[in-house]
Amino acid sequence: MRLGADYYPEHWDKARWKTDADMMVNANIKLIRMAEFAWSLFEPEDGRYEFDWLDEAIEFFAEYGIKIVLCTPSATPPKWMVDKHPDIYQDDIHGNPKLFGTRKHYCFNSDYYREKTRILVEKIAERYGNHPSLDSWQVDNELGWANTVRCYCDKCKKKFQLYVKNKYKTIDNLNKSYGTVFWSQIYNSFDEVIIPRAGACYDTCHNTQGQNPSLLLDFYRFSSDSIISFSEESINAIKKYSDKPVTTNLLDASVNSGTGIDYFKLSEVYDFVTWDNYIEFQWGIAKNETVSKDHSLIRSYKKQPFWVMEQQSGPCGWSKMGPAPTPGKLRLWTYSAVANGADTVVYFRWRACPFGTEEYWHGILGHDGKPNRRYDEIAQVGKEMEKLSKIYGPLQPKARVAIIKSFDSEWSHSIHQHVEGFDYDALLEAYYKPFFDMGIPVDFVYPEEDLSNYNLVFAPALIMVNENGKKNIESYVNKGGKLLVSFRSGIKDMNNNMLMETVPGVFSDLAGVEIHDYDPQFQKETKVSASFGEGVASLWCDVISLTTAKSLGVYVNDYYAGQSCFTVNNKGAGQVYYLGCDLDASAMEKLAKYLCDKAGIPVNLYYIPGVEVVEATDDKENALFVMNHNDYPVVVPLSKKYSDLLKDEKIEEVIHLAPYDLAILK
Ligand code: GLA
Ligand code: ZN
Repeated sequence: MRLGADYYPEHWDKARWKTDADMMVNANIKLIRMAEFAWSLFEPEDGRYEFDWLDEAIEFFAEYGIKIVLCTPSATPPKWMVDKHPDIYQDDIHGNPKLFGTRKHYCFNSDYYREKTRILVEKIAERYGNHPSLDSWQVDNELGWANTVRCYCDKCKKKFQLYVKNKYKTIDNLNKSYGTVFWSQIYNSFDEVIIPRAGACYDTCHNTQGQNPSLLLDFYRFSSDSIISFSEESINAIKKYSDKPVTTNLLDASVNSGTGIDYFKLSEVYDFVTWDNYIEFQWGIAKNETVSKDHSLIRSYKKQPFWVMEQQSGPCGWSKMGPAPTPGKLRLWTYSAVANGADTVVYFRWRACPFGTEEYWHGILGHDGKPNRRYDEIAQVGKEMEKLSKIYGPLQPKARVAIIKSFDSEWSHSIHQHVEGFDYDALLEAYYKPFFDMGIPVDFVYPEEDLSNYNLVFAPALIMVNENGKKNIESYVNKGGKLLVSFRSGIKDMNNNMLMETVPGVFSDLAGVEIHDYDPQFQKETKVSASFGEGVASLWCDVISLTTAKSLGVYVNDYYAGQSCFTVNNKGAGQVYYLGCDLDASAMEKLAKYLCDKAGIPVNLYYIPGVEVVEATDDKENALFVMNHNDYPVVVPLSKKYSDLLKDEKIEEVIHLAPYDLAILK
């Protein structure tokens, strides 16, 4: 377990480097990340490459034993390049180029941009690939950040036409698969196929894109795949010269609410994954369960230790700032990452930059570069990490509960929202939260993934699933698994068309139910009474008819009062629960407890709000992290005797934690 900092030597006078390096060593900062936006330094003019500036910095920090994460600078193509080749620009949905002046102004399908990227990445990899200071590589930066996954330029149009031609082979097949007979959209050839730029109905009257849902979903898949193939080009260029591991920094699903990249697929091409964790900033304050859920998502993409590549380390924002992290929070956030499976945490950034867009984005140090209370706090964490690393290898929670996350489903839900207020990501979080509260780790899985390690699996709004995914889920149940399927699951084919089977289509037999009537909860709510207790639905109510399932709950008002909302069906050696509605948070908690009981997962009876409890293991020893996110002291009951690793004390029965304090217990 290590700490690092994002550091940009080119932002500072060289005379300052020594002070920075000394301070890093003192704080146990073991690595620095560099160069992700430095293209115009690497290649100041077309074909003229300069590396002296970086050679000097890498050698300098090597003297201090500080390792380097070296980034490919493809997120900021220089001005000369876009002037020479304006077709690098990405086009927005109205067909207007996203111009120079910020960053990310490139189309992933520009052959010229890709070629220039490949050449530069090879040169960088050749030069530094075997440097003893090199720890690892980062490709690009926050792929897809600021809505840059989907580009609407002509290059993308041509490649999309090829993509659908490959997929559908004949135009008739595409027309049938898309249902283009609706609204006279029949194509005569693949050259006619559009990319979904803003059409006449875009956003004007109906707050939707209005385009053909099958075409939209394919375009979203194509866009995600374009970024994956771009990634592969950079990775291959690196691997030609270096055997150091390659990563990229993902975005949190929540504050930025999904980038449009299938992160499961993207993660396959990288050696490990990292993410950028901003918790309280200009654009929002993340809830504790949201941060935990995001850590779990990132851990889940590869089911292996991950990094935080940018951990917030000061007050931050571009034009306005969020609050200064209260004393204790930087430490707490770091441990929350470690407990949830991160083995390296890198702070963004070492020192606040006096110029540029992010002048207000504070790092560990302020603009003056002097030690401050944030630096002292991180130095404390650095010391503790040293100690912890002697006891444990990388720690991972071992989840027995899983939530299926499908990017196809996410995109489908984003195309047609079902009802005001529905949000796939929020629904997954509603399922995640009670487990977070109870200190029970949860993994996210894709539908085709091996489920045999889990005692309880949730499929919330899994609107579409392919044949393999369906078989996989069925076999999990048949072998004794417990599965919960929710409303809006199994109702579409992989082309984003409605199935004509009775709802829940794909899962009807498995769940032993049929839905002949459903009621989107538009400006209304419906109460339920079920085996787990009472609750309120405010998004959706499926009125369930039983085929082979048993009713475990009913609606208590509206015209379907007395009819089923919650059922269970025995299938093979397992059970399938069907929940036809959403539930308020307190009912979700009761449901989670009910299902834990059925699945033999022990539940902590003494849950304390705002206290995050995570048990993790390095496969030899366990570590129990108890973290107080509250601004008040708490007393947490313990079920056995422990030693407190940070305080070197024996603990029995309870542990007292100050505001934002934590303990690691063995
Ligand atoms: C992102 C980027 C960083 C920086 C921070 C702060 O996470 O990766 O380069 O811009 O945001 O805005
Ligand atoms: Zn494009």
